[in-house]
Amino acid sequence: MRGEVRIQGSKNAVLPMMAAAVLCEEITVIENCPDISDVHAMAEVIEDIGGCVTYENHCLTIDAAGIRSKSIEEKKVKEIRASVLLTGSMLARFGKVTIDYPGGCSIGSRPIDFHIKAFHKMGVVTTEDESCIRCETNSSLRGTAIELEFPSVGATENIILAAVLAKGVTWIQNAAREPEIVEFCHFLQTMGAKIKGEGTEHIIIQGVSKLHGIKWRLGADRIVFLTYAMMVAGCGGEAYLETDSDTPPKEITVLSRLGCQIRLESKGISIQQESRPNSISYICTRPYPGFPTDGQSLLMAVLSKSGGISTIEESIFENRFRMIRQLRKMGANIDYVSNRARITGVTKLHGAKVEADDLRSGAGLLIAAGMAEGITTVSREHFIHRGYEDVVTHMRKLGLTAKYRREE
Ligand code: UD1
Repeated sequence: MRGEVRIQGSKNAVLPMMAAAVLCEEITVIENCPDISDVHAMAEVIEDIGGCVTYENHCLTIDAAGIRSKSIEEKKVKEIRASVLLTGSMLARFGKVTIDYPGGCSIGSRPIDFHIKAFHKMGVVTTEDESCIRCETNSSLRGTAIELEFPSVGATENIILAAVLAKGVTWIQNAAREPEIVEFCHFLQTMGAKIKGEGTEHIIIQGVSKLHGIKWRLGADRIVFLTYAMMVAGCGGEAYLETDSDTPPKEITVLSRLGCQIRLESKGISIQQESRPNSISYICTRPYPGFPTDGQSLLMAVLSKSGGISTIEESIFENRFRMIRQLRKMGANIDYVSNRARITGVTKLHGAKVEADDLRSGAGLLIAAGMAEGITTVSREHFIHRGYEDVVTHMRKLGLTAKYRREE
Protein backbone atom coordinates (compact mmCIF):
# COMPACT_ATOMS: atom_id res chain seq x y z
CA MET A 1 0.00 0.00 0.00
CA ARG A 2 1.13 3.53 -0.63
CA GLY A 3 -0.79 6.79 -0.52
CA GLU A 4 -2.58 9.42 1.52
CA VAL A 5 -6.04 9.63 3.00
CA ARG A 6 -7.78 12.41 4.85
CA ILE A 7 -9.62 11.01 7.86
CA GLN A 8 -13.32 11.97 8.03
CA GLY A 9 -15.01 13.64 11.01
CA SER A 10 -15.99 11.47 13.96
CA LYS A 11 -19.26 9.53 13.79
CA ASN A 12 -19.50 8.90 17.51
CA ALA A 13 -18.92 12.59 18.28
CA VAL A 14 -21.32 14.04 15.71
CA LEU A 15 -24.31 11.86 16.67
CA PRO A 16 -24.57 13.16 20.28
CA MET A 17 -23.93 16.69 18.96
CA MET A 18 -26.96 16.30 16.71
CA ALA A 19 -29.00 15.33 19.76
CA ALA A 20 -27.57 18.40 21.56
CA ALA A 21 -28.71 20.68 18.74
CA VAL A 22 -32.28 19.81 19.78
CA LEU A 23 -31.67 21.49 23.17
CA CYS A 24 -31.87 25.02 21.80
CA GLU A 25 -34.05 27.06 19.47
CA GLU A 26 -31.16 28.55 17.55
CA ILE A 27 -29.20 27.21 14.59
CA THR A 28 -26.33 24.75 15.06
CA VAL A 29 -23.74 24.23 12.34
CA ILE A 30 -21.31 21.29 12.34
CA GLU A 31 -18.48 21.43 9.79
CA ASN A 32 -16.41 18.43 8.66
CA CYS A 33 -19.46 16.26 9.23
CA PRO A 34 -18.98 12.80 7.65
CA ASP A 35 -21.26 11.77 4.78
CA ILE A 36 -22.40 8.49 6.33
CA SER A 37 -25.79 6.84 6.63
CA ASP A 38 -25.99 7.09 10.45
CA VAL A 39 -25.81 10.90 10.19
CA HIS A 40 -28.54 10.96 7.53
CA ALA A 41 -30.72 8.58 9.58
CA MET A 42 -30.35 10.78 12.68
CA ALA A 43 -31.20 13.83 10.53
CA GLU A 44 -34.41 12.11 9.37
CA VAL A 45 -35.43 11.42 12.95
CA ILE A 46 -34.89 15.09 13.89
CA GLU A 47 -36.84 16.24 10.82
CA ASP A 48 -39.66 13.87 11.66
CA ILE A 49 -40.27 15.65 14.98
CA GLY A 50 -40.22 19.09 13.36
CA GLY A 51 -36.55 20.08 13.11
CA CYS A 52 -35.01 21.34 9.90
CA VAL A 53 -31.72 19.70 8.85
CA THR A 54 -29.60 20.43 5.78
CA TYR A 55 -26.36 18.79 4.66
CA GLU A 56 -24.08 20.30 2.04
CA ASN A 57 -20.33 20.00 1.45
CA HIS A 58 -19.80 18.25 4.77
CA CYS A 59 -21.59 21.02 6.58
CA LEU A 60 -24.58 19.98 8.69
CA THR A 61 -27.06 22.63 9.79
CA ILE A 62 -29.77 21.94 12.34
CA ASP A 63 -32.56 24.34 13.16
CA ALA A 64 -34.49 22.80 16.04
CA ALA A 65 -36.78 25.80 16.69
CA GLY A 66 -39.76 24.12 15.02
CA ILE A 67 -39.71 20.90 17.04
CA ARG A 68 -43.23 20.25 18.33
CA SER A 69 -43.79 16.51 18.42
CA LYS A 70 -42.77 14.78 21.63
CA SER A 71 -43.20 11.38 20.06
CA ILE A 72 -40.25 9.87 18.22
CA GLU A 73 -41.54 6.94 16.23
CA GLU A 74 -39.76 7.35 12.95
CA LYS A 75 -38.63 3.95 11.66
CA LYS A 76 -35.03 5.22 11.54
CA VAL A 77 -35.01 5.12 15.36
CA LYS A 78 -34.82 1.36 14.97
CA GLU A 79 -31.81 1.67 12.69
CA ILE A 80 -29.48 3.79 14.79
CA ARG A 81 -28.49 3.35 18.37
CA ALA A 82 -27.72 7.06 18.87
CA SER A 83 -31.40 7.96 18.43
CA VAL A 84 -31.79 7.09 22.13
CA LEU A 85 -29.83 10.27 22.89
CA LEU A 86 -32.83 12.31 21.80
CA THR A 87 -34.49 11.11 25.03
CA GLY A 88 -32.10 13.20 27.14
CA SER A 89 -32.36 16.30 24.98
CA MET A 90 -36.16 16.14 24.54
CA LEU A 91 -36.64 15.63 28.28
CA ALA A 92 -34.39 18.61 28.97
CA ARG A 93 -36.24 20.86 26.53
CA PHE A 94 -39.87 19.70 26.87
CA GLY A 95 -40.04 17.57 30.04
CA LYS A 96 -41.51 14.65 28.14
CA VAL A 97 -40.85 12.29 25.27
CA THR A 98 -42.04 8.98 23.89
CA ILE A 99 -39.47 7.05 21.91
CA ASP A 100 -39.37 3.68 20.16
CA TYR A 101 -36.63 1.37 21.41
CA PRO A 102 -33.42 2.24 19.60
CA GLY A 103 -31.73 -0.12 17.17
CA GLY A 104 -28.17 -0.07 15.84
CA CYS A 105 -25.72 -2.81 14.92
CA SER A 106 -26.64 -6.09 16.65
CA ILE A 107 -23.21 -6.48 18.26
CA GLY A 108 -24.75 -7.48 21.59
CA SER A 109 -27.88 -7.15 23.71
CA ARG A 110 -27.40 -3.36 24.10
CA PRO A 111 -29.91 -2.60 26.89
CA ILE A 112 -30.65 0.99 28.00
CA ASP A 113 -31.28 0.30 31.69
CA PHE A 114 -28.47 2.64 32.85
CA HIS A 115 -30.06 5.51 30.93
CA ILE A 116 -33.51 4.85 32.38
CA LYS A 117 -32.27 4.44 35.98
CA ALA A 118 -30.43 7.75 35.71
CA PHE A 119 -33.51 9.54 34.38
CA HIS A 120 -35.54 8.15 37.30
CA LYS A 121 -33.02 9.71 39.72
CA MET A 122 -33.48 13.03 37.91
CA GLY A 123 -37.25 12.93 38.55
CA VAL A 124 -38.48 11.26 35.36
CA VAL A 125 -41.34 8.78 35.44
CA THR A 126 -41.24 6.13 32.72
CA THR A 127 -43.76 3.67 31.37
CA GLU A 128 -42.69 1.04 28.91
CA ASP A 129 -44.48 -1.28 26.55
CA GLU A 130 -43.22 -3.70 23.93
CA SER A 131 -42.25 -1.07 21.41
CA CYS A 132 -41.68 2.25 23.19
CA ILE A 133 -40.78 4.11 26.38
CA ARG A 134 -42.77 7.10 27.65
CA CYS A 135 -40.75 9.48 29.81
CA GLU A 136 -42.22 12.41 31.67
CA THR A 137 -41.39 14.76 34.51
CA ASN A 138 -43.98 16.73 36.49
CA SER A 139 -41.78 19.73 37.16
CA SER A 140 -38.30 20.26 35.71
CA LEU A 141 -35.48 17.72 35.69
CA ARG A 142 -33.38 17.94 38.84
CA GLY A 143 -29.65 17.47 39.18
CA THR A 144 -28.50 14.57 41.36
CA ALA A 145 -25.59 12.17 41.94
CA ILE A 146 -25.58 9.26 39.50
CA GLU A 147 -23.17 6.36 39.70
CA LEU A 148 -22.99 4.25 36.55
CA GLU A 149 -22.51 0.49 36.99
CA PHE A 150 -20.33 0.54 33.88
CA PRO A 151 -18.84 3.57 32.04
CA SER A 152 -21.40 3.41 29.21
CA VAL A 153 -20.76 5.91 26.43
CA GLY A 154 -24.43 6.33 25.52
CA ALA A 155 -25.64 6.59 29.14
CA THR A 156 -22.98 9.21 29.96
CA GLU A 157 -24.03 11.28 26.93
CA ASN A 158 -27.74 10.93 27.64
CA ILE A 159 -27.32 12.01 31.26
CA ILE A 160 -25.23 15.02 30.18
CA LEU A 161 -27.92 16.01 27.66
CA ALA A 162 -30.61 15.81 30.33
CA ALA A 163 -28.47 17.59 32.94
CA VAL A 164 -27.33 20.69 31.04
CA LEU A 165 -30.75 22.35 31.41
CA ALA A 166 -31.75 20.65 34.71
CA LYS A 167 -32.17 22.45 38.04
CA GLY A 168 -29.02 22.17 40.16
CA VAL A 169 -25.93 20.05 39.87
CA THR A 170 -25.58 16.55 38.38
CA TRP A 171 -22.57 14.40 39.30
CA ILE A 172 -21.81 11.42 37.11
CA GLN A 173 -19.53 8.91 38.76
CA ASN A 174 -17.85 6.19 36.69
CA ALA A 175 -18.52 8.26 33.55
CA ALA A 176 -17.20 7.17 30.16
CA ARG A 177 -13.94 8.92 29.23
CA GLU A 178 -13.86 8.38 25.46
CA PRO A 179 -12.40 11.26 23.38
CA GLU A 180 -15.81 11.60 21.69
CA ILE A 181 -17.34 12.42 25.10
CA VAL A 182 -14.68 15.07 25.64
CA GLU A 183 -15.35 16.68 22.25
CA PHE A 184 -19.09 16.46 22.88
CA CYS A 185 -18.66 18.29 26.23
CA HIS A 186 -16.54 21.00 24.59
CA PHE A 187 -19.30 21.41 22.02
CA LEU A 188 -21.90 21.82 24.79
CA GLN A 189 -19.66 24.21 26.74
CA THR A 190 -19.48 26.39 23.61
CA MET A 191 -23.31 26.33 23.53
CA GLY A 192 -23.23 27.74 27.07
CA ALA A 193 -23.40 24.56 29.18
CA LYS A 194 -21.48 24.37 32.46
CA ILE A 195 -19.61 21.07 32.52
CA LYS A 196 -16.45 20.08 34.38
CA GLY A 197 -14.40 16.89 34.53
CA GLU A 198 -14.92 15.65 30.95
CA GLY A 199 -12.33 13.00 30.15
CA THR A 200 -12.30 11.82 33.79
CA GLU A 201 -14.61 9.43 35.57
CA HIS A 202 -16.34 12.27 37.47
CA ILE A 203 -18.30 14.70 35.35
CA ILE A 204 -20.09 17.60 37.04
CA ILE A 205 -22.83 19.52 35.26
CA GLN A 206 -24.37 22.72 36.62
CA GLY A 207 -27.71 23.24 34.89
CA VAL A 208 -28.26 26.54 33.02
CA SER A 209 -31.52 28.06 31.82
CA LYS A 210 -30.68 28.31 28.12
CA LEU A 211 -28.20 27.22 25.47
CA HIS A 212 -27.42 28.96 22.19
CA GLY A 213 -26.64 27.86 18.64
CA ILE A 214 -22.99 27.54 17.56
CA LYS A 215 -20.69 26.66 14.68
CA TRP A 216 -18.37 23.69 15.38
CA ARG A 217 -15.64 21.95 13.41
CA LEU A 218 -15.65 18.22 14.07
CA GLY A 219 -12.43 16.36 14.87
CA ALA A 220 -11.17 13.25 13.06
CA ASP A 221 -12.69 9.82 13.64
CA ARG A 222 -10.17 7.72 15.61
CA ILE A 223 -11.74 4.41 14.57
CA VAL A 224 -11.66 5.35 10.89
CA PHE A 225 -8.02 6.36 11.41
CA LEU A 226 -7.39 2.97 13.01
CA THR A 227 -9.11 1.20 10.09
CA TYR A 228 -6.79 2.64 7.42
CA ALA A 229 -3.78 2.27 9.72
CA MET A 230 -4.67 -1.41 10.23
CA MET A 231 -4.89 -1.86 6.46
CA VAL A 232 -1.27 -0.75 6.27
CA ALA A 233 -0.35 -2.94 9.25
CA GLY A 234 -1.88 -5.97 7.53
CA CYS A 235 -0.99 -5.35 3.89
CA GLY A 236 2.43 -3.69 4.34
CA GLY A 237 3.59 -0.42 2.76
CA GLU A 238 3.30 3.18 3.88
CA ALA A 239 0.49 5.70 4.20
CA TYR A 240 -0.02 9.22 5.42
CA LEU A 241 -3.28 9.65 7.31
CA GLU A 242 -4.28 13.29 7.69
CA THR A 243 -6.15 14.00 10.92
CA ASP A 244 -5.77 17.82 11.17
CA SER A 245 -4.16 17.28 14.56
CA ASP A 246 -0.67 16.88 15.99
CA THR A 247 -1.99 14.72 18.85
CA PRO A 248 -2.06 11.03 17.91
CA PRO A 249 -4.99 8.88 18.97
CA LYS A 250 -4.10 6.55 21.84
CA GLU A 251 -4.74 3.54 19.61
CA ILE A 252 -1.40 4.01 17.84
CA THR A 253 0.23 1.91 20.59
CA VAL A 254 -1.37 -1.22 19.14
CA LEU A 255 0.09 -0.37 15.73
CA SER A 256 3.58 -0.37 17.29
CA ARG A 257 2.85 -3.78 18.80
CA LEU A 258 2.01 -5.02 15.31
CA GLY A 259 5.46 -3.88 14.16
CA CYS A 260 4.52 -0.62 12.39
CA GLN A 261 6.84 2.39 12.28
CA ILE A 262 4.94 5.53 13.22
CA ARG A 263 5.92 9.09 12.41
CA LEU A 264 3.94 11.99 13.85
CA GLU A 265 3.55 14.89 11.44
CA SER A 266 2.09 18.35 12.06
CA LYS A 267 -1.36 17.47 10.64
CA GLY A 268 -1.41 13.70 10.69
CA ILE A 269 0.45 10.45 11.08
CA SER A 270 2.56 8.30 8.74
CA ILE A 271 2.38 4.54 9.20
CA GLN A 272 4.87 2.13 7.70
CA GLN A 273 4.90 -1.65 7.84
CA GLU A 274 7.77 -3.54 6.25
CA SER A 275 7.22 -7.07 7.47
CA ARG A 276 4.51 -9.53 8.36
CA PRO A 277 2.50 -8.20 11.35
CA ASN A 278 3.66 -9.32 14.80
CA SER A 279 1.30 -11.44 16.85
CA ILE A 280 -0.07 -9.98 20.11
CA SER A 281 -0.01 -12.55 22.89
CA TYR A 282 -3.04 -11.09 24.71
CA ILE A 283 -5.27 -8.05 24.33
CA CYS A 284 -8.67 -7.32 25.87
CA THR A 285 -11.20 -4.69 24.82
CA ARG A 286 -11.96 -2.17 27.56
CA PRO A 287 -13.63 1.22 27.95
CA TYR A 288 -11.29 4.13 27.15
CA PRO A 289 -8.35 4.36 27.75
CA GLY A 290 -8.33 0.61 27.05
CA PHE A 291 -8.32 -0.93 23.59
CA PRO A 292 -11.68 -0.07 21.94
CA THR A 293 -14.24 -2.74 21.10
CA ASP A 294 -14.77 -0.84 17.82
CA GLY A 295 -11.17 -1.65 16.87
CA GLN A 296 -11.37 -5.34 17.75
CA SER A 297 -12.60 -6.70 14.40
CA LEU A 298 -9.99 -4.58 12.62
CA LEU A 299 -7.21 -6.03 14.78
CA MET A 300 -8.47 -9.59 14.38
CA ALA A 301 -8.27 -9.30 10.60
CA VAL A 302 -4.62 -8.15 10.81
CA LEU A 303 -3.64 -10.82 13.36
CA SER A 304 -5.05 -13.56 11.12
CA LYS A 305 -1.85 -13.22 9.04
CA SER A 306 0.58 -12.48 11.86
CA GLY A 307 3.74 -14.42 12.55
CA GLY A 308 2.47 -16.21 15.68
CA ILE A 309 -0.42 -16.92 18.02
CA SER A 310 -2.57 -14.14 19.47
CA THR A 311 -5.43 -14.02 21.96
CA ILE A 312 -8.22 -11.43 21.88
CA GLU A 313 -10.75 -11.13 24.67
CA GLU A 314 -13.92 -9.16 23.86
CA SER A 315 -15.33 -7.78 27.11
CA ILE A 316 -17.97 -5.34 25.83
CA PHE A 317 -20.11 -6.68 22.97
CA GLU A 318 -20.71 -10.42 22.83
CA ASN A 319 -21.63 -10.72 19.14
CA ARG A 320 -18.47 -9.26 17.65
CA PHE A 321 -16.95 -12.71 17.07
CA ARG A 322 -19.49 -13.47 14.33
CA MET A 323 -16.83 -12.15 11.96
CA ILE A 324 -14.68 -15.23 12.65
CA ARG A 325 -16.94 -17.35 10.42
CA GLN A 326 -16.26 -14.96 7.54
CA LEU A 327 -12.50 -14.82 8.13
CA ARG A 328 -12.37 -18.63 8.16
CA LYS A 329 -13.85 -18.60 4.62
CA MET A 330 -10.71 -16.68 3.65
CA GLY A 331 -8.38 -19.25 5.20
CA ALA A 332 -7.91 -17.74 8.67
CA ASN A 333 -7.17 -20.10 11.57
CA ILE A 334 -9.22 -18.77 14.49
CA ASP A 335 -10.91 -20.64 17.35
CA TYR A 336 -12.91 -19.17 20.15
CA VAL A 337 -14.54 -20.14 23.40
CA SER A 338 -17.04 -17.68 24.82
CA ASN A 339 -15.45 -14.23 24.51
CA ARG A 340 -11.83 -15.37 23.96
CA ALA A 341 -10.46 -15.93 20.48
CA ARG A 342 -7.17 -17.64 19.65
CA ILE A 343 -5.75 -16.55 16.32
CA THR A 344 -2.98 -18.62 14.75
CA GLY A 345 -1.43 -16.49 12.02
CA VAL A 346 -1.42 -18.04 8.54
CA THR A 347 0.99 -17.12 5.74
CA LYS A 348 -1.79 -16.60 3.19
CA LEU A 349 -5.42 -15.52 3.11
CA HIS A 350 -7.39 -16.11 -0.07
CA GLY A 351 -10.26 -14.15 -1.61
CA ALA A 352 -13.81 -15.34 -0.86
CA LYS A 353 -17.43 -14.18 -0.78
CA VAL A 354 -18.01 -12.83 2.72
CA GLU A 355 -20.73 -10.89 4.52
CA ALA A 356 -20.55 -7.98 6.94
CA ASP A 357 -22.46 -8.64 10.18
CA ASP A 358 -22.10 -5.11 11.53
CA LEU A 359 -20.22 -1.88 10.82
CA ARG A 360 -16.81 -2.85 12.21
CA SER A 361 -16.88 -6.46 11.01
CA GLY A 362 -17.49 -5.01 7.54
CA ALA A 363 -14.41 -2.82 7.95
CA GLY A 364 -12.41 -5.78 9.28
CA LEU A 365 -13.36 -7.79 6.19
CA LEU A 366 -12.16 -4.95 3.94
CA ILE A 367 -8.79 -5.14 5.70
CA ALA A 368 -8.70 -8.93 5.26
CA ALA A 369 -9.67 -8.49 1.59
CA GLY A 370 -6.66 -6.21 1.10
CA MET A 371 -4.40 -8.79 2.75
CA ALA A 372 -5.78 -11.75 0.77
CA GLU A 373 -4.64 -13.15 -2.55
CA GLY A 374 -7.35 -12.98 -5.21
CA ILE A 375 -10.70 -11.24 -5.18
CA THR A 376 -12.92 -10.85 -2.12
CA THR A 377 -16.53 -9.72 -2.37
CA VAL A 378 -17.95 -8.16 0.80
CA SER A 379 -21.75 -8.09 0.78
CA ARG A 380 -24.23 -6.41 3.14
CA GLU A 381 -21.96 -3.41 2.77
CA HIS A 382 -24.75 -1.07 3.90
CA PHE A 383 -23.31 -1.71 7.38
CA ILE A 384 -20.02 -0.16 6.26
CA HIS A 385 -21.75 2.96 4.93
CA ARG A 386 -23.13 3.58 8.43
CA GLY A 387 -19.71 4.81 9.48
CA TYR A 388 -17.31 5.06 6.53
CA GLU A 389 -17.42 7.71 3.87
CA ASP A 390 -16.13 6.82 0.37
CA VAL A 391 -14.35 3.73 1.63
CA VAL A 392 -13.74 2.33 -1.85
CA THR A 393 -12.18 5.60 -3.08
CA HIS A 394 -9.94 5.72 -0.02
CA MET A 395 -8.81 2.12 -0.44
CA ARG A 396 -7.92 2.93 -4.04
CA LYS A 397 -6.01 6.03 -2.92
CA LEU A 398 -3.96 3.73 -0.74
CA GLY A 399 -3.12 1.49 -3.65
CA LEU A 400 -5.65 -1.34 -3.33
CA THR A 401 -7.84 -2.41 -6.21
CA ALA A 402 -11.39 -1.96 -5.03
CA LYS A 403 -14.70 -1.33 -6.68
CA TYR A 404 -18.22 -0.84 -5.57
CA ARG A 405 -21.25 -2.72 -6.77
CA ARG A 406 -24.54 -1.53 -5.31
CA GLU A 407 -26.41 -4.07 -3.18
CA GLU A 408 -29.45 -5.58 -4.86
C1 UD1 B 1 -21.01 3.45 21.93
C2 UD1 B 1 -20.53 3.62 20.52
C3 UD1 B 1 -20.06 2.29 19.95
C4 UD1 B 1 -19.02 1.66 20.87
C5 UD1 B 1 -19.52 1.61 22.31
C6 UD1 B 1 -18.46 1.14 23.29
C7 UD1 B 1 -21.83 5.47 19.64
C8 UD1 B 1 -22.90 5.93 18.72
N1 UD1 B 1 -21.61 4.15 19.72
O1 UD1 B 1 -22.12 2.57 21.90
O2 UD1 B 1 -19.48 2.54 18.66
O3 UD1 B 1 -18.74 0.36 20.43
O4 UD1 B 1 -19.95 2.92 22.73
O5 UD1 B 1 -17.33 1.93 23.20
O6 UD1 B 1 -21.15 6.26 20.28
N2 UD1 B 1 -24.90 -1.29 28.70
C9 UD1 B 1 -25.87 -1.77 29.57
N3 UD1 B 1 -26.92 -0.94 29.88
C10 UD1 B 1 -27.02 0.32 29.36
C11 UD1 B 1 -26.03 0.79 28.49
C12 UD1 B 1 -24.97 -0.05 28.16
O7 UD1 B 1 -25.79 -2.89 30.07
O8 UD1 B 1 -27.99 1.02 29.70
C13 UD1 B 1 -23.74 -2.17 28.35
C14 UD1 B 1 -23.75 -2.58 26.87
O9 UD1 B 1 -24.56 -3.72 26.64
C15 UD1 B 1 -22.27 -2.84 26.62
C16 UD1 B 1 -21.59 -1.81 27.51
O10 UD1 B 1 -22.54 -1.42 28.49
O11 UD1 B 1 -21.91 -4.13 27.06
C17 UD1 B 1 -21.07 -0.60 26.78
O12 UD1 B 1 -22.11 0.00 26.04
P1 UD1 B 1 -22.13 1.56 25.71
O13 UD1 B 1 -20.83 2.17 26.13
O14 UD1 B 1 -23.37 2.15 26.26
O15 UD1 B 1 -22.20 1.55 24.13
P2 UD1 B 1 -23.07 2.48 23.18
O16 UD1 B 1 -23.22 3.83 23.78
O17 UD1 B 1 -24.27 1.72 22.76
